[in-house]
Amino acid sequence: MITRKVAALAACAAMLSVTAGNAVAADTVEVLHWWTSGGEASALNVLKEDLEKKGVTWQDMPVAGGGGEAAMTALRARVTAGNAPTAVQMLGFDILDWAKEGVVANLNDVADQEGWGDVVPAALQRFSKYDGNWIASPVNVHSTNWVWINKAALDAAGGKAPENWDELIAVLDKMKENGITPLAHGGQPWQDATVFEAVVLSLGTDFYKSALNDLDPEALGSDKMKEAFDRMAKLRTYVDDNFSGRDWNLASAMVIEGSGGMQMMGDWAKGEFLKAGKKPGEDFVCIRFPGTQGAVTFNSDQFVMFKVGEDKQKAQKMMASAVMDPVFQSAFNVVKGSVPARTDVPNDAFDDCGKKGMKDLAEANSSGTLFGSMAHGHGAPAAVKNAINDVVTQHFNGELTSEEAVEELKNAVAAAQ
Ligand code: GAL
Repeated sequence: MITRKVAALAACAAMLSVTAGNAVAADTVEVLHWWTSGGEASALNVLKEDLEKKGVTWQDMPVAGGGGEAAMTALRARVTAGNAPTAVQMLGFDILDWAKEGVVANLNDVADQEGWGDVVPAALQRFSKYDGNWIASPVNVHSTNWVWINKAALDAAGGKAPENWDELIAVLDKMKENGITPLAHGGQPWQDATVFEAVVLSLGTDFYKSALNDLDPEALGSDKMKEAFDRMAKLRTYVDDNFSGRDWNLASAMVIEGSGGMQMMGDWAKGEFLKAGKKPGEDFVCIRFPGTQGAVTFNSDQFVMFKVGEDKQKAQKMMASAVMDPVFQSAFNVVKGSVPARTDVPNDAFDDCGKKGMKDLAEANSSGTLFGSMAHGHGAPAAVKNAINDVVTQHFNGELTSEEAVEELKNAVAAAQ
């Protein structure tokens, strides 16, 4: 027994020494990420396999938790210990915050050689570059203002996808009558905030921009904001009793199997439907959050390269280059539910939701209705995002009235800046 224990301890110690960043071999990349759900893991495998074919070994550092908050805490610990991973999945303003600390690598040689500047949209370059230097390779563009509906449940509720708030409420009511949970939702602050930003967008693109990108105190404290909170309170009535703390992919699973009617979530949710063998148009329907057609709130996952020893830089640059390969961007995003982070990738391999995602993104970009997702790090730095998430969650859980939430929101945002 004791010997078995000793052997197990020795095995653990060996594993630990392999996972410690210092032990990373020259042709290895250690990658910190939060892609741990079924759909996310399938997409990650596309990248792993691509790199392995090129002779680069993948050392996985997954930190579970949708939206990436836990991953960012783990990253802080690693960098503080002087042991940064090779590459880190990261969103928007977090990238710039890390760049300010002087700990990220410079990718200008790969980027210039491959002409990234010509194919990566400016909205993404804003976060891929710092002080004029490339520091990250964007792997995708997600958008958050989507609703994923079980097709059979929609048919049973009249069959017409809702196009505005009133139609949405009518469908949700019908689903309730039909005995299912109309809104499959996970009560975690980032998920509440994902729904909230779609609701804010549904009240006007100018309103979204002034409140959640420009942080204008007037918009944050407005009557319209009270209406947004009232809408959230209404949505809360369609959620089941067990929603607290539920992971987002479990909410997707409810819609996949039909105990839930719909989920309001970014297009990573599509990855779960595809992983479960479901087909858009047949088993599920993807629509823009009613009232937000023509606008897109986006977030882009980027791999930020950290400063590592010279011996590891070759593999790091190979990864940066592999991520930007147009063939890879198609293969990866087809599985992930997102769309490519470069403008020159054909849409042939994408399903109808993916094609719509690409078209919507291009149109929103040219018509000035493309906005950074607040809930996913592209509206403001983490301090503001977290302050907003807290208020939204307290209100969603009935701890604040809509009037109180508006006041709190305005004050919390001011204090966090
Ligand atoms: C987002 C991220 C997506 C997806 C999602 C849920 O912030 O951009 O790639 O993974 O979280 O985990």
